[in-house]
Amino acid sequence: MTGGTPAAGLLADRRVVVVGGASGIGLATVRAAAAAGAAVAVLDADAGGAAGAAEQARAVGVRACAHAVDVTVEAQVAEALDAAAVDLGGVDAVLHVAGIMRGQGTDVADLSEQLWHQVIAVNLTGPFLVAKHAVRHLTGGDGVLVLVGSKAGVLAGSGSVPYGASKGGLHGLALTLARQLGPRGIRVHTLCPGDIDTPLMRRSLDEARANGTDGGQVARIEAALGHPEDVASVLTLLAAPVSAGIAGTVYTG
Ligand code: NAI
Repeated sequence: MTGGTPAAGLLADRRVVVVGGASGIGLATVRAAAAAGAAVAVLDADAGGAAGAAEQARAVGVRACAHAVDVTVEAQVAEALDAAAVDLGGVDAVLHVAGIMRGQGTDVADLSEQLWHQVIAVNLTGPFLVAKHAVRHLTGGDGVLVLVGSKAGVLAGSGSVPYGASKGGLHGLALTLARQLGPRGIRVHTLCPGDIDTPLMRRSLDEARANGTDGGQVARIEAALGHPEDVASVLTLLAAPVSAGIAGTVYTG
């Protein structure tokens, strides 16, 4: 599969926040949303990476800003979303992409409680906090909130116990938010990608090898990795009003 290019003008007049937009799928999403005409706010714990992504968006002629945020800290999430809304003059779509993978190949008997809490904090508490503080901005009647989950914990297990648990929890969170926020004109989706070639995936494969995962299995995953652009083009489509008829969980290869 190769990355599709969203139609120019698909997101004209849309104001899109990409949380986790400094790297991988999030960075590709910033580029795709900008190419589709959106004004973009890039939020990420990596302040320099977020600034660089916003710079790339501005280079194609759209408005863009960047704000540093740790999604596990509620005050930072509230402040960054409010600042993005001020910079963009409102928010129409929040695409929550940020996440971490740790504990690949670690047996449950050896997994520390600290690592469990770290992954759950970023991958489950983070999207909850982003949703909580995004809602007050998504008031136009055609707001969109997309939480990036995974097939792990939804369609299959995961090589990481906390990762699979966090992504299963995120899926339940999005289904619940869809029920609560749909009547208020906010469309909520989980997007579940397959294995994609990003820094997260490369680190995860290295961790799996180091923890003794079968080398042949790791090599097969490596050989079949998809491209961040494949996911970004779908996220961009979901952010558009033209997707109003799509409901629920969306899967990509
Ligand atoms: P990545 O590591 O390239 O990018 C993740 C971004 O999230 C980084 O810019 C990072 O700085 C940011 N981030 C991490 N912790 C943060 C925090 N506490 N606060 C704010 N920002 C934070 O990873 P990738 O692969 O692009 O992953 C994006 C999302 O897609 C993640 O939620 C991941 O679980 C999910 N995913 C990835 C797959 C893959 O194969 N790469 C497959 C399925 C899901």
